[in-house]
Order: sequence, then C-alpha cells, then structure tokens
Amino acid sequence: MRRIRIAPSILSADFAVLGTELASIASADWVHVDVMDGRFVPNITIGPLVVEAVRRSTPLPMDVHLMIVEPERYVQDFARAGAATIGVHVETCPHLHRTITQIREAGARASVVLNPSTPASAVEPVLGDVDQVLVMTVNPGFGGQKFIASMLGKIETLRRWIDERGLDVALEVDGGIGPETIALTARAGADVFVAGNAVFGARDRGEAIAALRRAANLQGAAEAR
Ligand code: DX5
Ligand code: ZN
Repeated sequence: MRRIRIAPSILSADFAVLGTELASIASADWVHVDVMDGRFVPNITIGPLVVEAVRRSTPLPMDVHLMIVEPERYVQDFARAGAATIGVHVETCPHLHRTITQIREAGARASVVLNPSTPASAVEPVLGDVDQVLVMTVNPGFGGQKFIASMLGKIETLRRWIDERGLDVALEVDGGIGPETIALTARAGADVFVAGNAVFGARDRGEAIAALRRAANLQGAAEAR
C-alpha cells in the first residue's frame, strides 16, 4: 500500500492567527504553502518572509507551491526560508531541467507542477530527475474551486510511468480535494493530497484530516485486495 500524505493548504487559513491555525493541523504530514504573484495567476499571496514565519511555527515539512513567473529568481530565497519541497510550474520554466537542478542544489526536494491544460508528457523527459509531480485539479489561483474530474486520466498516466520505471517520485494533487475526490485521486494513483477548504473550513481540523486519510487509505486497501 502506498504511503498517504495529507498537506493542508494555509491559503484557506486565517492569517491573523496563523500560529494557532498551524497548531490545529499538527496531525497532518506536510503544510502546503501557496505563493502567488499576480502575474502567473491573478491572485497575490505570500513571500519568503511568511514562509520563514511558518517554519518557526510548525515542525511539519513545508511544501511550497510557486505560482510565479521566473521562479528561478526566488528558489534560493524559499530554500533559505525553510522550504522542504519547492514546486515550480512547467508553464513558467523554459529551462525546466536547469530549474530542477537549482532546487536540489539549494537543498530542497524538487516538484514540478502541471496546470490542468498541460499534458503529462510535459514532465516525461524529467521524470527521473524530480522528487515529486503535482497535478493541478483546478486552475491555480484560488482556494475553494471545483475539482476537474478529467484530470484523473493524467494522474493514472503518471502513476503508470513512475511505477514502470521504478522511480521514487511522489504524485501530488491540489485543488478541490475533499473526502470524495481524495478517494478518486487515490484510486488513480496519487499519494500526496493538498486540501485547503476541506481542512480549514472544518471546525475540527484533526477530524477533517483523519477523514481524508481514511478515505484515501480505504481506496488504497481496496486496491491491494
Ligand atoms: C490553488 C492552490 C491550492 C488551494 C487548494 O491555486 O494551489 O493549494 O489552496 O484549495 P482547495 O483545497 O480549497 O481547493
Ligand atoms: Zn497549491
């Protein structure tokens, strides 16, 4: 059975009490941090300063998702701020292999991210050089959007390539993930699940994380039978 990881996205947290919000998700595996620049995506969120504050507020590894143009200009800053994983969109990286190398040399795990309209084949040449592939299941920019079901085929394709080649690459999904869609994406082959609203919209975050974990694991167990 694949190891399931739950990564709540602080985009849906209350930034006025970020420390308390982070304490409420202590049972999660990672914390997902959405960085937006108002250019690659319409929204503007946070920078290295807040990432550094998050690092001081939680022992959870930080999964930093860069939705910014020219991400290579900021890789070093986010690594220094404490990112365990740095994700860059392939749509923003004409020299993707170089940027992946840069992330690893900075001491972080390298993740490559695909917009819904970008095919799996866009990461195929670098699959052996990354630690993670993130399949966006909404168009990036905002929390609380509807899951795009046609992404399931892309997840299946990537899972097949990873397994056939015996690669140690995590397969993450992000956008519209809740108890139902986590089961669908787990069945398709994902093993890391970002959830914003499904966690921070719940009164009991621990219970919300446990429910997501159960739904993902049930799927995995069904698979193993
Ligand atoms: C969307 C972000 C997501 C977002 C997910 O651009 O990358 O991480 O916070 O939020 P939900 O789970 O509410 O769709
Ligand atoms: Zn994200």
